[in-house]
Amino acid sequence: MRTIKVMTVFGTRPEAIKMAPLALELAKRPEFEAVCCVTAQHREMLDSVLDIFQLKPDYDLNIMQPRQTLSAITSKCLNGMDGVLEQAAPDLVLVHGDTSTTFAGALAAFYHKIPVGHVEAGLRTYDKWSPFPEEMNRKMVGAIADLHFCPTLSNQENLARENIQKDVFVTGNTVIDALQTTVVKDFSFLEQILNNLDYVNRKVILVTCHRRENYGQPMTNIMTALRRVADAFPEAELVYPVHLSPVVQEAARKYLDQHPRIHLIAPLDVREMHNLMARCYLVMTDSGGLQEEAPALGKPVLVLRRETERPEAVAAGTVRLAGVEEEAIFQMAAQLLSDQGAYDKMAHAVNPYGDGRACCRIADAIAWHFGLRKAPPEAFGG
Ligand code: UD1
Ligand code: UDP
Repeated sequence: MRTIKVMTVFGTRPEAIKMAPLALELAKRPEFEAVCCVTAQHREMLDSVLDIFQLKPDYDLNIMQPRQTLSAITSKCLNGMDGVLEQAAPDLVLVHGDTSTTFAGALAAFYHKIPVGHVEAGLRTYDKWSPFPEEMNRKMVGAIADLHFCPTLSNQENLARENIQKDVFVTGNTVIDALQTTVVKDFSFLEQILNNLDYVNRKVILVTCHRRENYGQPMTNIMTALRRVADAFPEAELVYPVHLSPVVQEAARKYLDQHPRIHLIAPLDVREMHNLMARCYLVMTDSGGLQEEAPALGKPVLVLRRETERPEAVAAGTVRLAGVEEEAIFQMAAQLLSDQGAYDKMAHAVNPYGDGRACCRIADAIAWHFGLRKAPPEAFGG
């Protein structure tokens, strides 16, 4: 039997978390030769994920620079990918999501006339500036890709509206596959503060905030609201693993430092993060991935953004858009901290994003596309 050489390309923490289980699934199957190329758009935050999943990349472009610009990331990825694609000559390149690595990886493959599979395809806000630059990245990759792996039916419908109808598969999100391997009942944290928190009698709020379109005033508003929440609710303990971006580090230190119940800590490895999420009271975030993980764990989420490309959990009632204005964020958090009824309404586990079998469906779809299986996989029905 001929083997299909499939190259996964990724560079940031969230891509790695969502691609690692897929890379491992491909490596397990005899019909594929799995090759992995990291751009290292993120360095430490990527390596942490590679360690946890024990994934050893075949190629590492090592491009990260402090305060890197979008153009620098894109051009370094493109240049680096040239040599890699020439040498490896894969049958298919898989990219994930909507980062600059995703866009450059897809474009490089296109230049080499190599088919592209887009994992986490079809998410849209229809606002080109928000999230920035991710909305355009995913649209451009959608235009380039030959295979589209949509987490949900509504993502597939988004692509259909753009006339992308061929080789579109609804698979669920691979992040749920990852989540099923990381959360355990008796977890001991490496980060000592997390072992010492009283998750039963205190209200632990997990915070993350990093998006480029929130830099500046929106981030100031968010941080000010978070401090007000900590001041107003003595039972609240805020845990914020701060993204390594110097812009974010500066804002977090400026507005949230020196508060006895705000814990600014280093980025957590993905196992620590998922287990903290499983134990916390509430999540406040502008992250994409957390909006998918927290609902699966039954945790209410306040989204610190103006819009979301993930409407499924909003419709299910476990995620609310809090926006980027201080007063609205404070009021929404205050309600969830003081009104048990309102909290209970949001705190139920829903899984619109996956059932843990997304990687299996994606691998099956690739095998079918290359004529190695008789039928495509059944769609995820979430
Ligand atoms: C990137 C993605 C964003 C994704 C986010 C996940 C783009 C344009 N943005 O944004 O879609 O949501 O990753 O976290 O692709 N840094 C380190 N060490 C690390 C990682 C980052 O020091 O391990 C610092 C560097 O100074 C770097 C800066 O963070 O220049 C920003 O990283 P970058 O990848 O450019 O942007 P993110 O905000 O992380
Ligand atoms: N995450 C992590 N450690 C942290 C913060 C986040 O492992 O300190 C994980 C989180 O659980 C999710 C992913 O990183 O799986 C989300 O990454 P991020 O918020 O950086 O990017 P986004 O999803 O917004 O693109």
